[in-house]
Amino acid sequence: MRKLYSILIVLIIVGSTKLKAQDHNLSVDASKSFAEIQPTMYGIFFEDINFAADGGLYPELVKNRSFEFELGLMGWEEPNSDRHSFNQNSGKAQLVKYSDSTNNHNYVLVTVNDPEGYELINQGYRGMGIKKGEQYRVSFDAANKGAISAVKFELLDEEDNLVSSTTVPVNSINWKSYETEIIPSETVEKAKLRMTFEGTGDIWMDMISIFPKNTWKGRKNGLRKDLVQLLAAMNPGFLRFPGGCIVEGRTLAQRYQWKKTVGPVEERETLVNRWNEEFSHRLTPDYFQSFGLGFYEYFQLSEDLGAEPLPILSCGIACQFNTGELVPMQDLDPYIQDALDLIEFANGGPETNWGKVRAEMGHPEPFQMKYIGIGNEQWGPEYIKRYKEFEKAIRAKYPKIIIVSGSGPFPDGEYFEYGWEQLKEMGAAIVDEHYYRSPEWFRENANRYDHYDRSGPKVFAGEYAAQSVAIASPENKNNWETALSEAAFMTGLERNADVVTLTSYAPLMAHKEGWQWTPDMIWFDNLQSYGTPNYYVQKLFGTNSGTNLLKITEDGKELIGQEELYASAVTDSNSGELIIKLVNTSSEEKSVKLDVKGTRLGSSGKMMVLQKQDLSAENSFENPTNIQPVEETIKTGSQQLEVSLKPYSLNVLKLKMS
Ligand code: AHR
Repeated sequence: MRKLYSILIVLIIVGSTKLKAQDHNLSVDASKSFAEIQPTMYGIFFEDINFAADGGLYPELVKNRSFEFELGLMGWEEPNSDRHSFNQNSGKAQLVKYSDSTNNHNYVLVTVNDPEGYELINQGYRGMGIKKGEQYRVSFDAANKGAISAVKFELLDEEDNLVSSTTVPVNSINWKSYETEIIPSETVEKAKLRMTFEGTGDIWMDMISIFPKNTWKGRKNGLRKDLVQLLAAMNPGFLRFPGGCIVEGRTLAQRYQWKKTVGPVEERETLVNRWNEEFSHRLTPDYFQSFGLGFYEYFQLSEDLGAEPLPILSCGIACQFNTGELVPMQDLDPYIQDALDLIEFANGGPETNWGKVRAEMGHPEPFQMKYIGIGNEQWGPEYIKRYKEFEKAIRAKYPKIIIVSGSGPFPDGEYFEYGWEQLKEMGAAIVDEHYYRSPEWFRENANRYDHYDRSGPKVFAGEYAAQSVAIASPENKNNWETALSEAAFMTGLERNADVVTLTSYAPLMAHKEGWQWTPDMIWFDNLQSYGTPNYYVQKLFGTNSGTNLLKITEDGKELIGQEELYASAVTDSNSGELIIKLVNTSSEEKSVKLDVKGTRLGSSGKMMVLQKQDLSAENSFENPTNIQPVEETIKTGSQQLEVSLKPYSLNVLKLKMS
């Protein structure tokens, strides 16, 4: 009996010690700010990967509308015409090169022999998403060279039922633009376009487009509304565009050239998308860039979102994971000129060469661009050599522009060390770092920046995401474990906001069928979109970034993940709030007492809780808000409060200060 008692006593002591370990007494002094939180702290990284632009944010429904893909008729089908035989009795479509056009190279010559039998079909980007009752602009250019009197446009559902149609008379022998409207009678996720013809003979056609009128801000050539709304809700401090590796190209000829993406859309030269055949397990041979979403639209989107535009340009090195092609140093000038001209395009008056282009596109006021990035994931001496030349030229002409440099694709190792050493020595302003690592890495590296040199360059955590399996594995999931680990890591970014001034998750978006890379923050199909748990983590940080950094301590030490508890604290001088972020990555509930000095609190506050017991849980099209923040009201004393943190939770406390 005695023995049993002593065992029980030991168990009680062990149990209570264990319980004790879950209690935390934290302190924060709201009057002692250690740094300002830059408004750019939480931003967005946009790249046209996973159909993020064409087929996604850029809502054109017709794929290869301008017949500019490498195989000019890709995306188009003629079911009743056998291209491989002479038996093309009903009619045929042929690609023709313009004799005088510079960027828009091709048009299609359609010959109709049998108007009853001939049809031209476009399947869109994995189908066309159309909504019942909404208006779609149907437009095209044509030169009628025969006896065709009209072109009929029909939208068909997955079973080929007619959902809407319009017939447009074509009355000019010369090139002429036509425009009409179509209103579907049903909502269809994967509709297709069928074109038929009245009369016979030849007709030349180009820029065949079906475009929603209900775009973000109702703009012509505008962006997909639901996707922009998801971005706007994040309150992003900056928008980095257009990538990513897409900036570099697999070869220099395939690099992103911003000048080819501005001006009239039909004059923007189509380019292959470098992600089309990058991964043999996710081949997307029909992935091209129409540049309907080009640099003007990116600047406009940044302005709409209240985000600093942050364009990244080629430094004269193609992707080093592909060819690594180098532009010789003596030929670097045009690349540098592109950077200088871009600054003029964004910031110059309408009387300047490039400012005029912007003004003619509808934005006479400058975009007030402050940042420019040179190179994406470049490494080694060839990068540093080229970067130096850019820096010299930009600093000489535009000393106020802040230049972002890069430290390569990895967060450590030879390339990283070399890049940092060189850039530091040169006095670079901001260095971009990328990390695609395991969830454990994120949890274990929340102290990454605690010992960075405070007098060196600032850090742009420009691309990061926890990979549940391995980097870019097609099996990666946007599950709760990855999001929670990122949240823990982000408290470390925030605690070091004096060094880390810009951060962004990557990649941003993915089409459920058109993707190449996982994980991604936002998923969409042709009609719907949803934010992953990683999205909600970003959103909670972005909408609660605050303005001034504080220190949050336990027993005099900063919390950096001890006992699986991570924390950061800020005040917001605009809202008069004290904002505390607490991340509990353990499987146990934690009880936290917080002593607040330097201010007085009201009698209650708010706590936003993002939590799931199941670390493998995800959001999905069927259950898009399976994991989303829940708001609770908490009682507070004037200088003390007590909260309980659920297992595996991110908690954002918002406390009004008097
Ligand atoms: O985010 C996807 C890719 O990852 C980016 O294009 C590149 O910069 C990085 O390797």
